[in-house]
Amino acid sequence: MAEEIIIDTSLSKADKYEQLLPQIEALISGESDLIANLANIASVLKYHFNFFWVGFYLFKDNELVLGPFQGPIACTRIKIGKGVCGTSFEKKETIIVPNVNEFAGHIACSSETQSEIVLSIIVNNEPVAVLDVDSEMLDHFDTIDQQYLEQLTLLISNKW
Ligand code: SME
Repeated sequence: MAEEIIIDTSLSKADKYEQLLPQIEALISGESDLIANLANIASVLKYHFNFFWVGFYLFKDNELVLGPFQGPIACTRIKIGKGVCGTSFEKKETIIVPNVNEFAGHIACSSETQSEIVLSIIVNNEPVAVLDVDSEMLDHFDTIDQQYLEQLTLLISNKW
């Protein structure tokens, strides 16, 4: 069943995440289909934080393939170890890129993206996907985003 996400836009970023995470948990709790849940999560993040692009790349056929996302069209396939997404996946760690123009090997799906954060989604100690969040602003992401988005990727891992 569709639900309404309610968030107080005057809150700090940390408090917004605090409000959103339990609502995302509730949103996906009654649905077992992975793609449906990833699609709704991408929508919640995109529209409640006004990020430029939010989406998932899923590990298939030995590479990352575009999954549910919100935002402009994007690259469909990324090799493991390539770009921010492929590097985060390979290293099984979160990567914050304050300025994409200074990240060697960054894959530019849109020239508007200036900064990004990519988190790997780990199941049974193996990476299965990444969450990529892009901004048109430089230096948009910090450890607050990392802390809360890592809670989110853990939630996703547990439903995988
Ligand atoms: N910038 C990413 C590619 C994905 S798009 O930004 C949606 C990367 O370097 O892996």
